[in-house]
Amino acid sequence: MWRYKLQCFECQRVFPAEEAGFRCKTCGGLLEVRFDLAGRREPAWNGRQLSVWKYRELLPIEKQESIVSLAEGGTGLHHCKRLGRKLGLKKLFVKNEGENPTGSFKDRGMTVAISKARELGKKKVLCASTGNTAASLAAYSARAGMECIVLMPKGKVAGGKMLQIIMHGAKLIQIKGDFDQALEIAMKLSERRREFYLMNSINPFRLEGQKTLAFEILDQLGRVPEAVILPVGNGGNISAAWKGFSEFQQLKIVKSRPRMIGIQAEKAAPIARAVKSGRDKIRPVHNPQTIATAIRIGSPVNWPKVLSAIRDSRGTAETVTDRQILEAQKELATLEGIFVEPASAASIAGVKKLSEEGRVDRSETVVCVTTGHGLKDPSVLDRLPKSQTGYNLEITDGSRLEALERIL
Ligand code: F0G
Repeated sequence: MWRYKLQCFECQRVFPAEEAGFRCKTCGGLLEVRFDLAGRREPAWNGRQLSVWKYRELLPIEKQESIVSLAEGGTGLHHCKRLGRKLGLKKLFVKNEGENPTGSFKDRGMTVAISKARELGKKKVLCASTGNTAASLAAYSARAGMECIVLMPKGKVAGGKMLQIIMHGAKLIQIKGDFDQALEIAMKLSERRREFYLMNSINPFRLEGQKTLAFEILDQLGRVPEAVILPVGNGGNISAAWKGFSEFQQLKIVKSRPRMIGIQAEKAAPIARAVKSGRDKIRPVHNPQTIATAIRIGSPVNWPKVLSAIRDSRGTAETVTDRQILEAQKELATLEGIFVEPASAASIAGVKKLSEEGRVDRSETVVCVTTGHGLKDPSVLDRLPKSQTGYNLEITDGSRLEALERIL
């Protein structure tokens, strides 16, 4: 591992690497892991298998024995020619993070954060979640033999995620309120009781794992895409990906960086609203609503990092409706064989909107990140039109085959 420090994203104050808190003690800003990359060159990565830990020099874990892993990363980057043709994009790629061990991109961050928790001697981990963070944390804490507490908005978490959390033996606390309130409680609890180590994306170590998404995209593509499009909730992933692209540029592995494009659901879009109106601060959305429960977030904690990633990359942010999300989910599944959960389909709905409006060019290489597996949220079945949910075949003797032939 290379040397790093913790630095405030706002006032640049430096803290020791073993700092326990997650906010700057001077200004309250977000903290960030900063590797000293001056004079560094690309390590000898070539013989290593594609995975989060391929990039271990750039991950803040001191000892190999601390690593808790379930084989995360190394997800597919799929050239989507059929969907691309429909959208008028020749080089449309999907980086499918649903292929991770617990079915979402969270595993990239969790393997690093839980390894850090072990290194710091923590025994109890805590998160607020719309489902995927909790499912991932439940699995990794089980693997590490740690106690896990999750706070979630009651009735607003997809069924597959609930099953994962319960199956892995986490202590599940459902709150009357939304994700933003759950996170507020989790942050307060972890401040009052230091033994509960907070694993949300305000934890800078988790974002270090998530930045490997960018490393893998560059490795798999062999060049820099013009745009990378991600669904945005709390804003950890888009900021982590931007950090990853920036580190490869600092190491002179690549010369440029992509435009970062964030997609939010129409009624849960504080980031997109700020970007569209040119504001440099967000206005929280109260009572956010969307079928994409994973990104049903009104007050994203990482907003300063997101707005600066979008600004510095000359990217943008856009909103999509629930209907557009469900359409995109179905299209990706039927045209490309890739099944993603609604929040992930927001990136596909987003690229569709942007290409229709001419904001991504047909010759550009565009990577959409699909963040979670479709099996996470079986409630979508109830929303599909009846015409899509199959036929009932009356089985009466002798007429079966003819009846079947008539349907086909
Ligand atoms: N896509 C999925 C499937 C998610 O679960 C999340 C976030 C996002 C996108 C947005 O990522 O927050 O880094 O901007 N889920 C969190 C959770 C909030 O608790 O599982 P972000």
